[in-house]
Amino acid sequence: MKVTVTSRTPVEAAADLIAIPIASADGKRARLAPPLAALDRASGGAIHTALASGDIQGKAGETLLLYPGRSKKIKRILLLGIGAEDALDAEALRRFAGQAVGQAMSRKARRVALLAPRAQIAASPQGIQALAEGAVLADYRFEDYRESNGERATHVSALSLLVERGADLRAAREAAAAAVVLGDSQNVARQLSNLPANALPPAELARFAQRVAREVGLRARVLGVPELKRRKMGAILAVGQGSAHPPRLIALEYRPRGRGKASAQRPVCVVGKGITFDSGGISIKPSAGMEEMKHDMSGAAAVVGILRACALLELPMPVVGVIGAAENMPSGTAYRPGDVVTAMSGKTIEVLNTDAEGRVLLADALHYARTEFEPSAIVDLATLTGACMIALGPWATGLFGNHEPLIARVRSAGDAAGERAWPMPLLDGHKEEIRSEVANIKNTGGRAAGASTAAAFLAHFVGDTPWVHLDIAGTGWTSKPGPYQPRGATGVGVRMLLEMLRHWDPQGLG
Ligand code: BES
Ligand code: MN
Ligand code: ZN
Repeated sequence: MKVTVTSRTPVEAAADLIAIPIASADGKRARLAPPLAALDRASGGAIHTALASGDIQGKAGETLLLYPGRSKKIKRILLLGIGAEDALDAEALRRFAGQAVGQAMSRKARRVALLAPRAQIAASPQGIQALAEGAVLADYRFEDYRESNGERATHVSALSLLVERGADLRAAREAAAAAVVLGDSQNVARQLSNLPANALPPAELARFAQRVAREVGLRARVLGVPELKRRKMGAILAVGQGSAHPPRLIALEYRPRGRGKASAQRPVCVVGKGITFDSGGISIKPSAGMEEMKHDMSGAAAVVGILRACALLELPMPVVGVIGAAENMPSGTAYRPGDVVTAMSGKTIEVLNTDAEGRVLLADALHYARTEFEPSAIVDLATLTGACMIALGPWATGLFGNHEPLIARVRSAGDAAGERAWPMPLLDGHKEEIRSEVANIKNTGGRAAGASTAAAFLAHFVGDTPWVHLDIAGTGWTSKPGPYQPRGATGVGVRMLLEMLRHWDPQGLG
């Protein structure tokens, strides 16, 4: 989608659909605001009549479509309720733009103009970013397998954001350009997560990552089984050994151009769980809903999206992505309950449940990230536990860690990006719960505090590196579509961590 920002007024915009925000006060106002008054005149009083009818009152989410008829330039006017103007925040703007694009798509309108709300925030770079993000995210569909019957959606090809005359156009255009990168990168993550497991075994996930790396200029490394063996990565090898599709470890490196101080900085590492399908293995899952386990690589997908955006936004600091990719299958070669495996770090893991595979795979991915790249901080993303999904539902990502300032940063970045993460406890009791009688640690505790005992397991493999663990089991996938979110993969984590990385202060980690 091409996004432009202009100070043209609605009457001057040529579009298949123009979306007009209606705040709750607009319904009660006697006269239309100046840019709307002109549009109203050009459309034979359609807007005034619509508002006077009471059919739209400006409540958030309301829609009313008008056909101005007389105007040749504008085919449709879409009135969209946005609620109280002084309560508008970035998330409301994302939803407003998302809803406009959704309506345009269902009417096959390719050129869309969007009038920015009058509220202060809408003209700020943050507001413009939110509007453009909402639009780009709403335009995404997973339709790789729907081409043959012409079942593909009509996408919006051009969006023009109409801002007030006098707004800082340069800042607004920069914000919109960054938003397109962020939205597209999140859509890349969604696409990876939505791809079925037969299309995306570990080797294919690695090829996808390499292709993205080539496109945007990242360094990519892919370790296959012989290399994993050579480096004694017994944990990832165990998880992958039951599958006909062998595991991979993928590293994507972004370094800022030039040889200044910035490129010598220690990187931030983002580490992703990339289980391309989680059947549970020998501790096999019930069949109902098992198809959803094709998205058990959503952490890995987010890592690919994040590194793509780092490169395209030319961040001033190095960022490295590490992905452990494997398929968890039951078979004659699968790892079993009772097996003891030795991770790359040397720690031994007693496997009690082969369905607690994510933490086992991450044991090696985290240790590799820490020892290979010596990062200043690690953030991992993983669809790790059903327990976290039960605790927080689809409303928040579980936030764990060993470093309060880093936890606080991730949390506030999530709030700003409209992807909430909520702090969860990681206590000594949780750590004791996974002590093994047979090995150093075991891969499951009891039924209690399942999300926290999983985090406690991961903590064993990060040493004293400042670390945050994001459990995205509840937020990586949605069965309930929203204004900028179709059913399926969400691409959660991309906006949150980019928000953090774009404002990264290497001194402020404490
Ligand atoms: N991938 C699952 C967790 C999951 C469940 C993600 C639902 C998204 C939606 C993970 O590998 C898993 O199976 N976890 C087990 C751990 C248990 C065996 C200790 C779980 O949560 O049931
Ligand atoms: Mn599992
Ligand atoms: Zn899993």
